[in-house]
Amino acid sequence: MKTILVTGGAGFIGSNFIRYVFEKAKFKGRVVNLDKLTYAGNMENLADIQKKYKGRYTFVKGDICDYKTVFELMKKYAVTEVAHFAAESHVDRSIFGPKDFIETNIHGTFSLLEASRTLWAGRKDVRFHHVSTDEVYGSLGKTGKFKETTPYDPHSPYSASKASSDHLVRAYSDTYGLPVTISNCSNNYGPYHFPEKLIPLAILNALEGKPLPVYGDGLQVRDWLYVEDHCAAIWRILNKGRCGETYNVGGNCEMYNIDVVKGICRALERAVPARHNKALEGKNYVDLITYVKDRAGHDRRYAIDFSKIKRELGWQPSLRFAEGLAKTVDWYLANPEWVKNVKSGAYKNWIKKNYTR
Ligand code: NAD
Ligand code: DAU
Repeated sequence: MKTILVTGGAGFIGSNFIRYVFEKAKFKGRVVNLDKLTYAGNMENLADIQKKYKGRYTFVKGDICDYKTVFELMKKYAVTEVAHFAAESHVDRSIFGPKDFIETNIHGTFSLLEASRTLWAGRKDVRFHHVSTDEVYGSLGKTGKFKETTPYDPHSPYSASKASSDHLVRAYSDTYGLPVTISNCSNNYGPYHFPEKLIPLAILNALEGKPLPVYGDGLQVRDWLYVEDHCAAIWRILNKGRCGETYNVGGNCEMYNIDVVKGICRALERAVPARHNKALEGKNYVDLITYVKDRAGHDRRYAIDFSKIKRELGWQPSLRFAEGLAKTVDWYLANPEWVKNVKSGAYKNWIKKNYTR
């Protein structure tokens, strides 16, 4: 039986991926989810999957930096594939405190690679997929897109730690012949997104009549991809991607941050018109937009050339931004309990301590 070890499966993309694997890809094997349950990990994200796929889905609370835990787990479940999502993922947090990023993103990836190399010892019927980010390539000017061959130029502690982990993964392929693949993806959005990131933060703040913080001039560009499309890309790479290769994954959806926030205001106006939302006290959603101090070292523009994965594996994004955003807004409105629980947790204390805006 195939057994996939998903690291960080209680987070945003990892939990969407596990749901995708069982529900959309109809995977018949076993999934083991290893997650430390940091502030970003949430058991609620997979409560339904835990019940429905009992026997084929196992959750283990643990740290990827702990080599013994990783080794024993991979051995016990005879893991044949690793889908490595676990990471500290928020750029702002990496600026306030980089240590956890170095630990988890670099040392954690190293411990997974070591365990895989030791246990798999030259096997070729296994696979290590490393989930990474477009931020390793740095910032673009007004034109051009990131290709798989674009030189690395990370600017934040987060992107530097991800770049470092990418290099380690490649080194294990080149040096030990470990069967690896890497994906570098652009900004995701969708259900279960932790509300420290721009899109869920703006949706939830707007509903509560709170300011919508836009960093700097709001003219930074990100390339948005609906999370399920990202999961589909990873599934394809895991199953059909060529060993040792990197695949860029993107949404063909470059947008200025300010336009993303205005788009959220429009989507909310359709779902919960401002005149029916008491928290707004007569204001419109766009009136909540507030320009704040810029992020240090803020990358100006990201855009992904995903022609390689399209050509080789037939993947391309399926949802347009307006559709994806409407689905996302609907999901947050339909899940007030999830929102309440997430907002009452450790995140709230961290925000209080670190943000004055
Ligand atoms: P997330 O912060 O929502 O989730 C991270 C998960 O990893 C959490 O469940 C957390 O508990 C777990 N984790 C953290 N440290 C751990 C440790 N030491 N051991 C075990 N588990 C640990 O992140 P996300 O947005 O879902 O991102 C997942 C991956 O995708 C990351 O590697 C990130 O770099 C990459 N990525 C994210 C995006 C995006 O837009 N969110 C885009 C491209 C790539
Ligand atoms: O590009 C892929 C990356 O996308 C992933 O590797 C990261 O894990 C993920 O967090 C995301 O990083 P960003 O920094 O781009 O995402 P974030 O949602 O934090 O910010 C998106 C843009 O919006 C960015 O230019 C900063 C800006 N921003 C963000 C927040 C939280 C604001 O203007 N206001 C905000 O309040």
